[in-house]
Amino acid sequence: MKDDCAKDRNPSRRGFLFAAGGAAAATVGLGAGAVAASDMATPPPSDPRGVVEPFWGAHQGGILTLPQSHSYFAAFDIATDQRAAVEKLLRDWTVAAARLANGEPVEPISMARAIAAVAARRAQGEPVDPDYESDEVRLDSGETAGMLPARLTVTFGFGPSLFVKDGKDRFGLAARRPEALIDLPRFNGDQLKADLTGGDLSVQACADDPQVAFHAVRQLVRLAYGVAQVRWAQAGFLGSPADPAAPPRNLMGFKDGTNNLSTRNSAGMDKFIWVAADAPDWMRGGSYLVARRIRIALEHWDRMKLAFQEQTIGRHKMSGAPIGKAKETDDVELDRVDKDGNPIIPENAHIRLAAPANNDGTQILRRGYSYNDGVNFTAERWPPWRQGMEYDAGLFFLCYQGDPRSGFVKIFERMSKFDMMNQFVTHTGSGIFACPGGAAEGGFIGERLFSA
Ligand code: HEM
Repeated sequence: MKDDCAKDRNPSRRGFLFAAGGAAAATVGLGAGAVAASDMATPPPSDPRGVVEPFWGAHQGGILTLPQSHSYFAAFDIATDQRAAVEKLLRDWTVAAARLANGEPVEPISMARAIAAVAARRAQGEPVDPDYESDEVRLDSGETAGMLPARLTVTFGFGPSLFVKDGKDRFGLAARRPEALIDLPRFNGDQLKADLTGGDLSVQACADDPQVAFHAVRQLVRLAYGVAQVRWAQAGFLGSPADPAAPPRNLMGFKDGTNNLSTRNSAGMDKFIWVAADAPDWMRGGSYLVARRIRIALEHWDRMKLAFQEQTIGRHKMSGAPIGKAKETDDVELDRVDKDGNPIIPENAHIRLAAPANNDGTQILRRGYSYNDGVNFTAERWPPWRQGMEYDAGLFFLCYQGDPRSGFVKIFERMSKFDMMNQFVTHTGSGIFACPGGAAEGGFIGERLFSA
């Protein structure tokens, strides 16, 4: 089936317009209603930044969600061996993420409001978390005050080391580690840095505003104090084409996402993206995230002739059409040859190696973001072995799949050896995370993992 990806890029219909004061989620530690409506902004009726992506549901947000323009990813190391503390953290994170997605601060922004909220609870005979007594009251950092929800989604994941780390079953979860949550093998050309790789927990915040995405992760980091700390983080962005139905271009200048699996294809999502029915119960409605921080040697790429760039990808740069075709949506015909019998799309072009036809029909849902982290002294590993100050920029490749063994690993094993693109890209960071299903209101993400 040919997916019509362009239609996927229409604004979300699942979201709803934000209304200040309409929130029902409990505040972390303080209880419902602690955050005054005046801590929240009211959008003009047609402002798309006012759209709220629903937080509660069978699946976590941020997977099927129409990609937002910005993302902030963080992987965490857990700093305790107390299972109850991790469970409480996930509870607090869930409540906080639901509030943030709704455009609300996690806690009040002003001390006066926070103290008033505590007093009101006490007056009604409601329990108050001792952490929130008078001057111990914690406040949201406040940098999104007056801002809109910007379609924020927060997606949580569990790394292999949550289950077993250095041979230790810290939280009594070792027996519950799914087989599909493998340790990724070492791939050809990997230059992974330990401080950009792994993590016990992952949080991916995506929003149509970079400050909203960063603020969300910052609040979760604050709530994790003493329980978990950031191991590595990555900010990302997507260009926004004038035509909202067009896919964004990556930093190589090519349209990226043309032949992505359509999120409207629910049979395709069930087959390739959500875990299968025989997955552990706590993963039902969930998916596996593979994250790869891929540096692109932009200086080298920029000196290549256009025709060579197009051969590398297997598509025309401007139109996005497969080589030899006119339209972006034209079918990729891998069997087509020129008058001399040579394949029109080269044997080692990126789209040929990635195509389902060459990977036992497998598909993944790509949901990556470009990144730009300034410049570093870099020694290239390909001719002309350039050395000097170069961009540390590229693609923060993120993909979801029901099983990474038949998804990312299946595709990337061959690609890492033969892709023409390899002479321009270096994988410097990596992570794999089991993203459980979503939570019903009142529950928390990962509850079924911790409840048994
Ligand atoms: C810097 C790294 C990468 C860049 C710049 C890049 C860029 C692109 C571009 C421009 C396309 C063609 C348009 C499209 O269909 O979206 C494409 C297709 C694709 N890429 Fe990548 N990609 C990168 C890494 C990867 C990796 C690591 C994988 C997975 C292992 C991957 C999997 C795919 C797949 C499955 C397709 C669709 C192929 C098809 O069916 O036509 N890409 N990529």
